[in-house]
Amino acid sequence: MLVISGSADTGIGENIAKSLGAEYLSSSFKTFPDGEMLVRADCDAKNEDVVIVQSTYAPQDRHLMELFFLSQSILKQKPLSITAVVPYLAYLRQDKPFTPGESVSAEAVLDLLYSAGISNLVVVQPHKLETLEKFKGKSKAVLPVKSLMDYALREIENPYLLAPDKGSFPFAKEAAKLLNCDCTFIDKERNISTGEVSIKNAPAERFDGKNVIIFDDMISTGGTTAQAAKFAYSRGASDVIAIAVHLLMSGNAFATLRESGISGIYGANTIPAPNTYQIDVSEEIASAVRSLI
Ligand code: R5P
Repeated sequence: MLVISGSADTGIGENIAKSLGAEYLSSSFKTFPDGEMLVRADCDAKNEDVVIVQSTYAPQDRHLMELFFLSQSILKQKPLSITAVVPYLAYLRQDKPFTPGESVSAEAVLDLLYSAGISNLVVVQPHKLETLEKFKGKSKAVLPVKSLMDYALREIENPYLLAPDKGSFPFAKEAAKLLNCDCTFIDKERNISTGEVSIKNAPAERFDGKNVIIFDDMISTGGTTAQAAKFAYSRGASDVIAIAVHLLMSGNAFATLRESGISGIYGANTIPAPNTYQIDVSEEIASAVRSLI
């Protein structure tokens, strides 16, 4: 087995190669004066199971194109199989047309990956699990709740899990089981034109003396998490931290979270995010790869 990293891999490729006992190499690319890119996979992939590791955080389109090119160049070498490990797969939130005529970007991206020769796909915490079922090959979602909660188990006394919206409540409940603590959720709404988040229905609970952990699948602008943090403090929380799988940290997210009083931001190492604590989820990814090949 061969594991090959693209330029947006955050170190997961090397870790999973060790874990899988596979040969590891990184690909290279160059950019032409007009901005186009050339990718090079300098390996002998004939009759090998090849695992490509490439995350697709911003600039998403560039990182996706690099993944398509990398897969195509490997495919030409006639491998046994190509597995793509995409720790953060962009565009999965657009899983239906929200207004008539909009593209269903999630399906388009999944189809392109398959057309590029990728037969197995591993993605960490897709926004909705069912979206991955649209992939025409085999797929596996890695939900790294345990790794993310290990920190909380070691360091946080009197925790209380707060899901900042209904969608993240099932994962927050799983996390609460691991921490043996209570869990509740906020029913949020987002203004489609301004993007601003507000609380539609607040839970009745108070958090006096508790260290509240806000747990979500991702932090983008930080609006959802900041809103939940302010709510937790208003209901008596001693301290609030945020744990999210994907730390996209778009625009002023870091400042927004700091202003809300959040004392620490934790996430999986699927996306590089300065000033946050990154938790390695390579072991869960390696197990997912093993189950597909
Ligand atoms: C929404 O459904 C997701 O689970 C996240 O809550 C959302 O994407 C976070 O976005 P933001 O940080 O921009 O509020």
